[in-house]
Amino acid sequence: TSNIPGVRERTLVAVKPDGVQRRLVGQIIQRFETRGFKLVGLKMLQASEDLLAQHYASLNRKPFYPSLLRYMNSGPVVAMVWEGHNVVKSTRMLVGDTNPAEAKPGTIRGDFSIHISRNIIHASDSVEVAQAEIALWFRRSELMEWECCDHGSVY
Ligand code: PPS
Repeated sequence: TSNIPGVRERTLVAVKPDGVQRRLVGQIIQRFETRGFKLVGLKMLQASEDLLAQHYASLNRKPFYPSLLRYMNSGPVVAMVWEGHNVVKSTRMLVGDTNPAEAKPGTIRGDFSIHISRNIIHASDSVEVAQAEIALWFRRSELMEWECCDHGSVY
């Protein structure tokens, strides 16, 4: 499977503090697993202000930036790296619109959230951004290489 284009694409997903507090971590992971993506990194952490400032650097002039950082720093998050064919785009589809009021039923935000300031999950919005976000949140040694016994990483 290693010569199939895009198969090793990776994306960063983070269950935000409200998702952890509402006990949604398991259901969220299940959606990625049942879709067929491969978990290659997973950790729970209290994101530092420094990490969040780098992660959200492009938003630092937005009016909601200070409250976004406070929210993201208000409790632990669960950061994950998922791998697979077109995983960045497919993850954005699974997650749903940034504003839960616009997110379709069946998406994670559309099923579990109602307000943009508590939208329970983050997902990288492009392949380039995903690479930068993965490098920011994970050390290389925290990313696992593993092969599936029967299917490889393409279902
Ligand atoms: S923007 O304005 O187009 O840059 O915003 P967008 O790309 O849709 O969202 C970027 C991240 O900012 C979060 N966001 C907000 N947080 C709190 N309050 C408000 N009003 C708000 N608007 C946007 C949004 O959830 C995105 O965070 P991530 O972690 O990427 O989901």
